[in-house]
Amino acid sequence: MRPDDLFAEDRQRRVALGLQRSLRPVDGPQDARVIVDGCAVLSLCSNNYLGLANHPALIEAAVEAAREYGIGAGASRLISGSMRLHHDLEDRLAAFKGAEASLLFTSGYHANLGVISSLVGDGDAVFSDALNHASLIDGCRLSGAAVHVYAHADVDALERRLRVVPARRRLIVTDSVFSMDGDAAPLADICDLAERYDAMLMVDEAHATGVLGRRGAGLVEALGLEPRITVQMGTLGKALGAFGAYVAGSRALIEFLVNRARTFIFTTALPPPVVAAAAAALRIVEREPERRAAVRRNALRLREGLLGIGYDVPGDADCHILPVLVGDAEATMALSAALLAAGVFAHGIRPPTVPDGTARIRATVMATHTDADIDAAVEAFAACARRARPARRPALQR
Ligand SMILES: Cc1ncc(COP(=O)(O)O)c(C=O)c1O
Repeated sequence: MRPDDLFAEDRQRRVALGLQRSLRPVDGPQDARVIVDGCAVLSLCSNNYLGLANHPALIEAAVEAAREYGIGAGASRLISGSMRLHHDLEDRLAAFKGAEASLLFTSGYHANLGVISSLVGDGDAVFSDALNHASLIDGCRLSGAAVHVYAHADVDALERRLRVVPARRRLIVTDSVFSMDGDAAPLADICDLAERYDAMLMVDEAHATGVLGRRGAGLVEALGLEPRITVQMGTLGKALGAFGAYVAGSRALIEFLVNRARTFIFTTALPPPVVAAAAAALRIVEREPERRAAVRRNALRLREGLLGIGYDVPGDADCHILPVLVGDAEATMALSAALLAAGVFAHGIRPPTVPDGTARIRATVMATHTDADIDAAVEAFAACARRARPARRPALQR
């Protein structure tokens, strides 16, 4: 088959299923309002939860680092790219996460692929929540271990699998806050199971870092589970407003990953301005708990408003990620387009990102949204309500 025929055939199939995706340019900085198609619209689809991506302290830190260290790290960490800035941020992240040590990765995707494929392999078993992020799913697949998907957040289902699956090494992987569903994993129960069945446990705090916990370190901190988790992973590109990711755990784990994780070893180190910006963000997270409180307040206000006008919004009551369920992929994209025309940028999420029949608007709030912003968003959803088809509950497996 000629490549162009292959692409055309695939496109036709995507379009027929309402799954065609395309890129939309956004102008200006990532803020509560962004410029789309030349118009300022309210952003309800950024992971910049604390509003730090455009914060003057991060910009200043990045500019200073660029002046002092340059733009690029120039090499991988194991060659000449391991700059003092990387080591300092790793020390601070370890203390932040209540761990002995931490390691930076180029992105959360790299971290999840590298960690899972280092910890388990052929002959081992990995147990993965059905609604885990794609990067965890891909890490499981890449590892070569037998993958056992358990029903979402279902500890009984997980235990049934752990009881009958023998393996040399066993690893449980879960999001802490689920990125498309806005609910939290039952982490304390999962820790109990990991200990009872002698399994390692990896928790992805991409959407909890900076937002949950007394100091903003995540759900693991909120529940006081730090010493019971083998691998705490999180990202620097969401609430921390920068880019990259970290893995925190024991010194032995970090030494193991430095030597084993191919997505750490074979890639250029994070650029100095990005590392400096992430360090500045960490200082703000620690010093300004009011940002976390604002995120929670806005989440509660938006959820209450959407429920009040009849939308189906599952997930945890105060979670900053609100899945507004529509069900049908095309109807979801029609709702997203209608919202944009009404001045609200809220992305539709379709399969394969979410299971078939559970397409949704994934609405996220930021600390920098005002009450008036949230109320305007609810009004826009109300005006567009007639376009949405009845919602369906998410299926548990994908
Ligand atoms: C739960 C989760 N893990 C990992 C990632 C990947 O992180 P990154 O964007 O830094 O690659 C994301 C989002 O992108 C995510 O939502």
